[in-house]
Amino acid sequence: MTRKAYMPARARLSRRSLLAVGGGTVLASILRPRVVPAGLSSQKMLVAAEGRVRITPEPYPQTGVWCYGGSVPGPEIRLRQGERLQVTVENRLSEDTTVHWHGLRIPNAMDGAPYVTQAPIQPEDSFVYQFTVPDAGTFWYHPHAHSAEQVGRGLMGALIIGEPQPLPVDRDVVWVLGDFRLEDDASIAGGFGNRMEMSMSGRLGNTVTINGRAPDRFAVRAGERIRLRLINAASARIFGLEFKEHRPLVVAFDGQPVEPHAPECGRVLLGPAMRTDFILDMTGKPGHSAAVLDTFYKGLEYKLVEISYTDEKPLRTQPLAAPARLPPNPVREPDLASAQRHDVTLTGGMMGGMGMGGGMMGMMGGSMWAINGAAVMNDDMRQMKPVLTLTRGKSYILAIDNQTAWHHPMHIHGHSFRVITRNGARTKFREWRDTVLIPPRERAELAFVADNPGDWMFHCHILDHQEGGMMSIIRVA
Ligand code: C2O
Ligand code: CU
Repeated sequence: MTRKAYMPARARLSRRSLLAVGGGTVLASILRPRVVPAGLSSQKMLVAAEGRVRITPEPYPQTGVWCYGGSVPGPEIRLRQGERLQVTVENRLSEDTTVHWHGLRIPNAMDGAPYVTQAPIQPEDSFVYQFTVPDAGTFWYHPHAHSAEQVGRGLMGALIIGEPQPLPVDRDVVWVLGDFRLEDDASIAGGFGNRMEMSMSGRLGNTVTINGRAPDRFAVRAGERIRLRLINAASARIFGLEFKEHRPLVVAFDGQPVEPHAPECGRVLLGPAMRTDFILDMTGKPGHSAAVLDTFYKGLEYKLVEISYTDEKPLRTQPLAAPARLPPNPVREPDLASAQRHDVTLTGGMMGGMGMGGGMMGMMGGSMWAINGAAVMNDDMRQMKPVLTLTRGKSYILAIDNQTAWHHPMHIHGHSFRVITRNGARTKFREWRDTVLIPPRERAELAFVADNPGDWMFHCHILDHQEGGMMSIIRVA
């Protein structure tokens, strides 16, 4: 994490965007929405294979990875809300895989859940995914077979769905946050599925990346307004980002718009798989720099990247008006009065904190974690029975009780839900999410309409926890 590194390529200030906003008339009216190329459908090819990429700078060698399209992250897929996407996934790995389109509310057969929605894609085989994207926002894709190792070796990519009327900004920037455990020769360390790590925080790396590179500087121009889309694609690391001397304004969580607001406690919190979109006004002076810190793990704080202002004169001198709220996506509103309530209990793991040598909680038939007492090990969904069966079209409240000593980012496939309470208190924004981070011994209530039929995975997105049993199915019938 302390390795010196190049600034990530995607983060480099685009010359074109600077030229486009150059000239004397630097006013708010110059803010242009980023227009996604028109077209009703988009056809792509994604090859999952081994590759070599540069994660750390010279003199480190390149790193052998598993990746999509030869890069980490894989190719960014951008399309517009309501468009159709067709992706042919070709598996050139030496083991089976699938691709899951995280957060997209699409038909069950396209969800990429091995044995549940499709047979895993065998080596040398391929599978065609096709669906229409219902929601605008920031999403991502990743394998759903042997996920801890496959994501941990680099299989991940951003999936950005543009609003018909995007927010006007000077730049739309995506940061795919990754976390790799590298050896001194920059190769990825083995030892995936270590049982001790599985029963605690999951496998944390030693090299945090932005768009596949150990970051150094993020170049910005004074006065510009950036929409920054953060995607936590790490298999276990939780981020708590503080933008020093800046005031990010959150506009969406997990692809779903939220009332614009400053992050709680000044920190953007992102568990694995979670996304936050925010508006960042570059209010510093030319030549100035400010740190982005990750302060999530106590005693392990570090600087993620340095925001570094170019010497150019400010793009505008007047502060911009607060950004508008993003238009809502067509997610059905749950009816809380009629909603049926289900309790979900998370158990397992080491009882003490990191390295405190606490005992294991309830080892259930070799699994380390469980949801309502049931567990599936190693992503093997063949024997899994649904933990809940919901009636299509009805509203539900899931009351999740995390009885463990660890954080769990709990994800439901095929639906977005409102987080309505935390520890019994109403949430301020009743935000829509597809993944909710529940701290140790805390509770959260989610509400949603079970409107997407099929068997949907419901699991922790710390991938070691998922493979260690914290995985189940919710059936909507
Ligand atoms: Cu990001 Cu079950 O998935
Ligand atoms: Cu977990």
